[in-house]
Amino acid sequence: MSLLIRNARVLTLTAPLKPGQPVPGRPRRGKELGELGVIPQGDVLIVDGKISAVGPKVESPPDAEVIDAQGRVLMPGFVDCHTHICWAGDRLGEWEQKLKGVPHAEILRTGGGIQATVRAVRDATKKQLAAHLKTRLDALLRDGTTTVEIKSGYGLQAEEELKMLRAIVRAGNEWPGTIIPTALLGHAFEGELDEYARMVVKEMLPTVSREFPAITVDAYCEQGAWSVEACVRFFEKASKHHPLRVHADQFTSLGMVPEAVRLNVRSVDHLEASTKADLLLLAQSRTMGVILPCTGFHTDGRYARGGFFVDAGGALALATNCNPGTAPTHSMPFAIALAVRFCGLSPAEAIAAATVNAAAVLGFSDRGMIEPGQRADLIILRHKDERQLAYELGGNPVDQVICSGVLMPG
Ligand code: NIG
Repeated sequence: MSLLIRNARVLTLTAPLKPGQPVPGRPRRGKELGELGVIPQGDVLIVDGKISAVGPKVESPPDAEVIDAQGRVLMPGFVDCHTHICWAGDRLGEWEQKLKGVPHAEILRTGGGIQATVRAVRDATKKQLAAHLKTRLDALLRDGTTTVEIKSGYGLQAEEELKMLRAIVRAGNEWPGTIIPTALLGHAFEGELDEYARMVVKEMLPTVSREFPAITVDAYCEQGAWSVEACVRFFEKASKHHPLRVHADQFTSLGMVPEAVRLNVRSVDHLEASTKADLLLLAQSRTMGVILPCTGFHTDGRYARGGFFVDAGGALALATNCNPGTAPTHSMPFAIALAVRFCGLSPAEAIAAATVNAAAVLGFSDRGMIEPGQRADLIILRHKDERQLAYELGGNPVDQVICSGVLMPG
């Protein structure tokens, strides 16, 4: 099966891969993020789900289906590398309370926040969770996301976390894109933190490891959630078998960033409250930064200093953080629009952070670029200039999604 897309403005995202430079899968750092490797008028040939040729003019095989892009932008599908889209229930009542000025502490005291979603998830069956997920996944595919990471973290008990992870895998099996589950075993706690964190290390982690041997594990380091000490104890144990990621500095800078760098954590996500010293340290390390501007937009107007991190040579990715409490959106174009307005990224940097670098966070080297051999997860925008992705607010800028070489219905 071949598909030829003709006459497109192609964002290859391959620009920094010059001869002698490292291989695909290496995240873009610093200035490299601004290089989109544009072919102003080009063709892309897809054969059997993979990109087979890219260039200003590509010969069409006799059997190829041909699409004329008419100058529109063709680029890699979005990779949303940080979401919590496996949830049940809703938090609309809580949001209304917030709008009326009810303090966050009061909302938590009356059973709101993450614990409200924990209750709803525990009440749901695996089948129901998978059905909710399917609806969200279909919406996110329509908006151009072809690979998505989905965290557990609303179970807080081994069986409930497993139920979430199984629902994520089940929904993924029925979705044309790619799903990467993450075991967020340190999201919140019940009872006393030290005791709960000990239980996670001794019981929950081995139970999850048995069924999901190489799954990435994650924790939320924040006042009222997991402390630096609890995260470090958990990560030291988990690192023997699992890649690590951490939520840090969302509201408070607690000192998790230096520990994450020391532990060779794959990414530190959030960074809204990070000090400049910690951002510099992170930028010079192998650990990637992930910014989540939809959260600041929905909650407290605080944003990570993404531009500062990139200028310091950091490897930055961008994600929606889609969740029912702090980021009720699955739209990567919206995340791009916010990152450019509030985090100091250029449109090109935000696009690289949402594609090739987000793929690197998830350990993929076969997507996020348009070059021969890559998986053909591509989108054709409505626009002929990619800056429109950041400029336009609301609506869906994606005309056509191609997933593993297959045209998705509109
Ligand atoms: O990233 N930080 C932790 N988790 C989410 C919130 C999840 C929720 O409120 O349900 C966040 O903002």
